[in-house]
Parts: sequence; C-alpha cells; structure tokens
Amino acid sequence: MSVRSKSSKAWLNEHVNDHYVHKAQKDGYRARAAYKLLEINEKDKLINSGTVLADLGSAPGSWSQAAAQLVGSSGHVFALDILPMEPVEGVSFIQGDFREDSVLAEFESLLDNRPLDLVICDMAPNMSGNAVTDQARSFYLCELALDFAANHLKQGGNFLVKVFQGSGYQEYMAAMREIFTSVQTRKPQASRNRSSEIYLLGKNKR
Ligand SMILES: C[S@@+](CC[C@H](N)C(=O)[O-])C[C@H]1O[C@@H](n2cnc3c(N)ncnc32)[C@H](O)[C@@H]1O
Repeated sequence: MSVRSKSSKAWLNEHVNDHYVHKAQKDGYRARAAYKLLEINEKDKLINSGTVLADLGSAPGSWSQAAAQLVGSSGHVFALDILPMEPVEGVSFIQGDFREDSVLAEFESLLDNRPLDLVICDMAPNMSGNAVTDQARSFYLCELALDFAANHLKQGGNFLVKVFQGSGYQEYMAAMREIFTSVQTRKPQASRNRSSEIYLLGKNKR
C-alpha cells in the first residue's frame, strides 16, 4: 500500500472512531470543531445571550451553529467563508475571500457599524504540503483577522483565533498584546494533540 493511501486510511480510521465526530452527528453539529469553541466558551464565557460576533472562516458552520444558539434572538452572528455555507438561523453569511478588499467591504456593510463584542477566527488555508508556505499563508490570514478585530471590536471586546505554532508565532502574540490587555493560549480537548494548532484568546480590547 502506498504511503499516501496508508495515511488516508489512518485518517479515516481515526475519524470513524473519533468520539467528537459521533457526538457532532448526534448533537446536529456540522463539524466536530463545535466542541473546541464550546469548551473554550465554557471556561471563558465569551458568548452569552445578546453577544454580537463575527465568525471568520465559518464553513461548514459548526461554530456559527453553536454561537447562534448561545447568542439567542438578542444577539447576532455575522459569518464569512471563501466556501459556500448552508444557512444557519440567526446567522448572516457572505461568501468570499477574506484577503480581498471588496469582500472585506461587503462584510463591513453587512455589519452596518454594529460594534462587535467578539471576533472568532478558525480560518485555515488549503494546505500545500510545504510547511514554510503553509505557515506563512496561515499567519497572513491571522494578521488580517487581527486587523479586522482591532477595527471592529468595541472597547473591552474579545478575539479568539486559531494559529499554528511555529515561525511567526511569537511576533503574532506580541502584536495581539498591543491590542488586548491579556493574551492567553487555549488547547481544547477536541483539538488533536498531534496538531500544532492552538487558539489564542485576546481579552479586553484596549
Ligand atoms: C477549519 S475550517 C472552519 C471550521 C468552522 N469553524 C466550523 O466549525 O465549521 C477553516 C475555514 O477557513 C476558510 N478559509 C480559508 N481561507 C479563507 C479565506 N481566504 N477567506 C475566507 N475563508 C477562508 C476555509 O474555507 C475553511 O472553511
């Protein structure tokens, strides 16, 4: 068996046996990623009834689903992804590439000057397999998300972002510290140990 088909078989086995995959199917979430957000939220209470938030890199939509349930009818979720996303009740979605100015402008007009309590970003580029390129692409998206958070969060607002540890990580933490009074790391149980992904939480925008 080729290395590639061995590793995709291993992935499939892991996926089929994964506790969070089963739980997501049972609970009606579109992805197991929902439990990463829910676990972080359990600890940090970022999303409450009435919270207005932006979900960057939202497809297939499990974070948006979980967030929309938590914010209720007095809050709102604005979501964006380069891929299409099936509608979620209580979520305004636009499809587009966050790196494009026209897409950002469209998203900003959707917000209609509503100050945000929270920005959550789970964006990850399509992996090319070249670690250096992938890391650079990922941090570029994270930098754009941080700029967006800096411009649209109300004072005291929070920012949760997925990053991949490696080159650029320390600089990114330092950039976050300029904008938020506290920056902490979160590695929820649903995030696989072997993955270098980690979530950074900027609290209390200056
Ligand atoms: C890990 S998935 C997000 C999963 C989502 N949080 C959920 O719970 O369903 C990462 C998403 O980032 C999106 N993405 C990557 N690059 C993007 C870009 N330039 N603009 C907008 N979305 C992007 C991908 O299309 C993908 O849907």
